[in-house]
Amino acid sequence: MRFQLSAINTFLPLKIIPYLSVQVKHLLFIGLAVVVVSCRKDPGLITPVPPVLDSIDDGGTAVPYVPNLPDTLYDYENIVYPQHMLNDPILNITNNSNDGDNITNEGATLGRVLFYDKNLSANNTISCASCHHQNKAFSDGMKFSSGYLGELTGRNAMAISNVNYQRRFFWDARAATIEDQALMPIQNAVEMGMTLSNLELKLATLSYYPELFTAAFGTPEITASKIATALGMFMKSMRSFRSDYDLGVETNFADFTAEELAGKELFFSGDAKCNNCHISQNFGGTERHNNGLDAIYTDLGLAYVTDNEADIGRFKNPSLRNIELTAPYMHDGRFATLEEVLDFYSTDVNAHPNLDDRLTTTVTTGGPPIHFNFTAAQKASLIAFLKTLTDYPYITDPKYSNPFPD
Ligand code: HEC
Ligand code: HEC
Repeated sequence: MRFQLSAINTFLPLKIIPYLSVQVKHLLFIGLAVVVVSCRKDPGLITPVPPVLDSIDDGGTAVPYVPNLPDTLYDYENIVYPQHMLNDPILNITNNSNDGDNITNEGATLGRVLFYDKNLSANNTISCASCHHQNKAFSDGMKFSSGYLGELTGRNAMAISNVNYQRRFFWDARAATIEDQALMPIQNAVEMGMTLSNLELKLATLSYYPELFTAAFGTPEITASKIATALGMFMKSMRSFRSDYDLGVETNFADFTAEELAGKELFFSGDAKCNNCHISQNFGGTERHNNGLDAIYTDLGLAYVTDNEADIGRFKNPSLRNIELTAPYMHDGRFATLEEVLDFYSTDVNAHPNLDDRLTTTVTTGGPPIHFNFTAAQKASLIAFLKTLTDYPYITDPKYSNPFPD
């Protein structure tokens, strides 16, 4: 609990404090103390740790810790989505791939190196990819993740794909753009523990960066803003569109089993309402809702950002693409399996003043919760359908893989 709150505290507008119970206030102050203490012992803030220059292979031999990049750069610029995504009216509205700098192969290549480089953490122990594994669609399989000093994050690590179709980032939507988002874990006291000025100085001492920055930006200078742009380009190029579902759209679902078809039907129907919130051909990632996980929320979600009581318990509705690979589920990883998620929507949605109208029997915010009471066969079919969203080419594509020796 202490760690949960410590990560979130940084973003807690003080005005919310009066709404909280005495117990919660106590926890907040303990949490604040943890942040202060963890900042004090943070080696990134006091004595910069020299970068990793070598790693040791299985035979005990030192291998230089430098990225191994292809002679011809991978193509990140021309990844073309299929028609059903290009034509989706919602995705056309949320599309941000033309905001800021256009993706270049050089910029995304630099972003890939940064994403996998352990030098981005204060003690060289973790990279972005330590909590975002390609084989799990860039989530990490943990309820909470270990930061650079072994402390736990306050929330479940989110999967990453199709961020170019999303407008806000993190469970509480606190980052307005993917570039803003990219610098936050680096400076987070639990996650990577760096300051941006130390980061710039440290990366400048590494042999491989001047060339990569020059290729991407024309000059070798390393700045936090270029780091954000490059990480943003790499993440905007991380596109998932090659699942069985996508193939199905092209082929009128000819290869779908009867169970997958039944699940698809239910997912898009008023009997389950899943696609009322997990909208578009990206199956969510665009809005924030209260889906009735708790009667009393300990993590207030969007309310931390907006300071508005009506936003308590509202969280980003994550894209359900690759959901089979991204357990455990929800902002706090409370459900280990998709079966548990469906049991929740079936019978356990809680009453809450902010419960989204789409999950109430009266279709009014805060109304009585709907319990869909799915049969075992309905749950199984919904799960079979959700598994068609798994995109194996995405999780094995070398252009998104680790360029460093392990
Ligand atoms: C110690 C584990 C850890 C590390 C290291 C880490 N992340 Fe995360 N990441 C998380 C957690 C936990 C969340 C959710 C946090 C929240 O919502 O408060 C998250 C959320 C995200 C999101 C939001 C996705 C969405 O749909 O809104 C993106 C993008 C992301 N991380 C990218 C990165 C990048 C880039 C780096 C490296 C610069 C990085 N992460 C480093 C754990 C980590
Ligand atoms: C009112 C909008 C709403 C409806 C309707 C809805 N969801 Fe969700 N769903 C959300 C939100 C918001 C979250 C994230 C909540 C959190 O973590 O606090 C979520 C989370 C999930 C997750 C976990 C995602 C992850 O990455 O951890 C799954 C799986 C899921 N929903 C499936 C479904 C299915 C299946 C249905 C239909 C039975 C459904 N949802 C209906 C809003 C909704």
